[in-house]
Amino acid sequence: MRFLFLMDPMEGIHTAKDTTFALMLAAADRGHEIAHALPLGIFADNETTHAGRAEVFARAARAEVWRRGEPGVDDGFRLGERKVERVADYDAVFIRNDPPFDAIYGWMTQLLELVRDRTFVMNDPRGLRDANEKLFTLHFSNWMARTTVTASPAHVREFVHAVGGEAVIKPLDGMAGAGVFLLRASDRNFNAIVEATIGEAGRRWCMVQEYLPAARIGDKRILLLDGEPLGAILRVPRDDEARANIHAGGSVERAEITPEERRMIDEIAPELRQTGLWFVGLDVIGGRLTEVNVTSPTGIQQMTRFDGVDYPGRVIEWVERRAKR
Ligand SMILES: Nc1ncnc2c1ncn2[C@@H]1O[C@H](COP(=O)(O)OP(=O)(O)O)[C@@H](O)[C@H]1O
Ligand SMILES: [Mg+2]
Repeated sequence: MRFLFLMDPMEGIHTAKDTTFALMLAAADRGHEIAHALPLGIFADNETTHAGRAEVFARAARAEVWRRGEPGVDDGFRLGERKVERVADYDAVFIRNDPPFDAIYGWMTQLLELVRDRTFVMNDPRGLRDANEKLFTLHFSNWMARTTVTASPAHVREFVHAVGGEAVIKPLDGMAGAGVFLLRASDRNFNAIVEATIGEAGRRWCMVQEYLPAARIGDKRILLLDGEPLGAILRVPRDDEARANIHAGGSVERAEITPEERRMIDEIAPELRQTGLWFVGLDVIGGRLTEVNVTSPTGIQQMTRFDGVDYPGRVIEWVERRAKR
């Protein structure tokens, strides 16, 4: 099969950690042709149309990837010459560029929408557009900590008092812990933190959440494929850091999925499938759902190392089946 990976430049990738790189390796191992394109390298042109829709193209480069011990000494990749290819000619498209979810990301999903019924796109461009990684958790409110989403600085203060004086404030478009602050009612920086997040007059929404003490134990990442758990890892924050994200220095430990979490997944799964969110990373702190990562969830390499299971191979195998439909 031919798979297209829409992603950030290959040069910036940590091959030993990156989930997209692991998926590329697994696809190549299984004999597929893989190609790389930058999101801004796709374009539409209605000189050619299909069922009345403009054709979508990508400036795609054939990619070779290898693991340590194979052709190069280090993990590596080589890209061929970029050529204009019809996106619909690929059997599957992996949308794997990092957020932020900004207007550009939204426009990308609209371009890919033009081909979503001609090639398998993971995740579904419509789903990506519908499901903000923080706001989507509100669909499963019973599994969440006390949370409010507000654009009012006064409301933030009321909420923090109501949950006992300690909370976490997060921007709706953040990732990797960026902009996530501890918010203590007694902190003289309180107003400044709120202003930095939503503006003095409240120009955008933020999510404010009751502080979960279990965050010190860790933030569990559960990867789901088609609503089924693939595996889990625990990210443990450094002693001097509130955030457990790997990017914020969190260390990674082996983790199991508890029966309680399994129940949560079963409740969430139908809506994920309905929304076309096939490959998803749930963030769970102390059994509470804090985030539904849909844009480019990570963690598969660490999971594979701990469990000795070829998770990337499983993902690719599943995509093969979907692409055949
Ligand atoms: N309710 C909470 N209580 C305590 N810590 C939290 C809470 N929510 C998030 N955190 C901490 O902040 C980190 C980032 O939060 P998250 O909501 O996953 O946003 P991001 O998109 O930046 O990963 C988590 O790994 C966790 O350590
Ligand atoms: Mg997170």
